[in-house]
Amino acid sequence: MKVVIIGAGYVGLTTGACLAELGHHVLCIDIDEARIAAIKSRKLPVYEPDLENLVARNLDCNRLAFSHAIGSNISDAELVFLAVGTPSRADGDIDLSYVETAARNVAPHLGEQAAVVIKSTVTAGTAKYIRDLIVRIRGDRAIDVASNPEFLREGSAVRDFMKPDRIVIGADRNASQVKLVELYAAFERRGVPVLKTTTINAELIKYAANAFLALKIGFINQVADLCEGAEADVVAVSEGMGLDSRIGRAFLSPGPGYGGSCFPKDTRAFAAIGRRYGQPQSLVETLIGDNELRKTNLADRILEELGNPEGGRVTILGTAFKANTDDMREAAALAIVPKLIEAGVEVRAHDPKARFQASRLLPDVLWYDCPYEASDASDAIVILTEWEDYRRLDLSRLAGAMRGDCLIDYRNLLTSDDVVAHGLHYVSIGRPKALARTRPRKQGSGVSARIKIAASPS
Ligand code: NAD
Ligand code: UDX
Repeated sequence: MKVVIIGAGYVGLTTGACLAELGHHVLCIDIDEARIAAIKSRKLPVYEPDLENLVARNLDCNRLAFSHAIGSNISDAELVFLAVGTPSRADGDIDLSYVETAARNVAPHLGEQAAVVIKSTVTAGTAKYIRDLIVRIRGDRAIDVASNPEFLREGSAVRDFMKPDRIVIGADRNASQVKLVELYAAFERRGVPVLKTTTINAELIKYAANAFLALKIGFINQVADLCEGAEADVVAVSEGMGLDSRIGRAFLSPGPGYGGSCFPKDTRAFAAIGRRYGQPQSLVETLIGDNELRKTNLADRILEELGNPEGGRVTILGTAFKANTDDMREAAALAIVPKLIEAGVEVRAHDPKARFQASRLLPDVLWYDCPYEASDASDAIVILTEWEDYRRLDLSRLAGAMRGDCLIDYRNLLTSDDVVAHGLHYVSIGRPKALARTRPRKQGSGVSARIKIAASPS
C-alpha cells in the first residue's frame, strides 16, 4: 500500500521504516528540515537500536522516502498517518495543536480514497473532532479518520512494532477499517490479535493501558519502600508476585519513578479525561503526585547519605529516562540533579547515549565519556538508568577512583555482596541495608564521616 506518515519522531520514523520493511511504500514527512536532511544522509536524530539499519535498507530499495513538505506528494496515499507530538498542557490535558496543524496541512491534498489515521496518543473524541475539521476544510464527507494507537517502547521500538502483543484498529466506518486490516494483514496471518473497535474505544485503550502499567510501577515502588521498613527484599517479593499469571512479571521493577515521553504525559491526560467526563480517576491522580514526590525524596536521600552536601561531589551514572535510549523527557535525573546542585554538590555524569541531550538540559553538570573518570574523587555514585554496562562495572576500579564510599543504586543493578566486598557502602531500593567495613576516607571529602558496621549482605 502507499502510506504517508506525518511526523518522523520516535513513532513516525519507526512506523515508517517497519511498514516499508513489510513491503509497503512509505513517505515520511516532518516539518523539521534539519531532521529530514539528517535522516536522508542516514544519520538518525534519535538513538534507537536497529532503526538506523532498517531506515538505510529501505531507503536503498526505494520503499522509504522522506520530505519536509506536504503537497501533491501525498495525493496518491491510501493511508495518511498523523504521528506528531501531543505534549502536556499546564492543566494536564494534551496540546492537540500539532495534530490539528498536521490535519489542516494534509486536508487539501488528500486523494478521494484516502483515510487519515491518528497514531499519536490523543484524548477521547479526537478522531471524530479531526474528521469534522477535515470535512469542514474540504467539504467532503467521504473522508474518514481512524485511530490506530501505538504501543511501542523506546529502546525496543523496532522489535515492539514488528512483534506487537496486539494491534488496535479504531474505526467508525468500514472504509478505513478495511484499509487498516489490509495494511496489517501480515501480522494477522502471523497470529497477532487485531482488535477492531470504535475510535473512542481505541483512544481510551491506549490511555488505560499506559495508566495501568504506570500504576504497576507506582505500586511496586511503594512495596519497595515497605520492604525497606520491614527489612524484606523487594526483588523476591516482586518475583513471587509476578509468578502469578494474573499479575505477570513485567513492570514490577522498582526505580526512581517512571519517566519518559509517555507515562507522565499520558497519566496526566487520562486523569484530565476522567475529570472532563465527571468520572475522576483517583488511583491515577494519586499516582501522578506520588511519582513526582518519589523523585524528590530520592534526591533528599542522596543528600542524607552525603551528610554535609556542601562541597561534596556526586557522580550520576545514567541520565536517560531508561536504558537503550537517548531520550531525556521527564527523566528522573532532571528532578534529582538540580536538587543536588542547589545543595552545593558538584555533579559529574556519564550516560552512554544521552550525553548530548542531557548536557543541554543540565548545563551545570560536568560530563565524562568514561564512568570511572566521572567517578574520580567522588563522595557518592548514583545509578539512575539501568544500562547493561553498569551491571558490569569494575567495582574495584570504581572504589579506587572515589574519595568517598557510597554507591547508591536506584535501579537495583548490583548485588550488595559484591559492592560491600569492595569496601563500599551500598544503598539500593527495597532491599535490606548493607553497610561496608570502614575504609579510610581520602583527603578532601566534603561529606561527613559515617560510622560503619560489619557487612550484612542480603
Ligand atoms: P517526537 O517528538 O519524537 O516526534 C514528533 C515529530 O513530529 C517531530 O519530529 C516534529 O518535528 C514533527 N511534527 C510536528 N508537527 C508537525 C507537522 N505539522 N507536520 C510534520 N511534522 C510535524 O514524538 P514521538 O515520541 O514520536 O511521539 C509522537 C506521538 O506518539 C505522541 O502522541 C506520543 O504520545 C505517541 N507515542 C509515543 C511513543 C514513544 O515511545 N515515544 C510510544 C507510543 C505513542
Ligand atoms: C511506554 C509504554 O511501555 C509503551 O507501551 C508506550 O507505547 C509508550 O510508553 P516507554 O516510555 O518507551 O514506553 O518506556 P517503558 O519501558 O514503558 O518505561 C517507562 C518508564 O517506566 C521508564 O522511566 C522506566 O525506567 C520505568 N519503569 C519501567 C520502571 O521504573 N519499572 C519497570 O518495571 C518498568
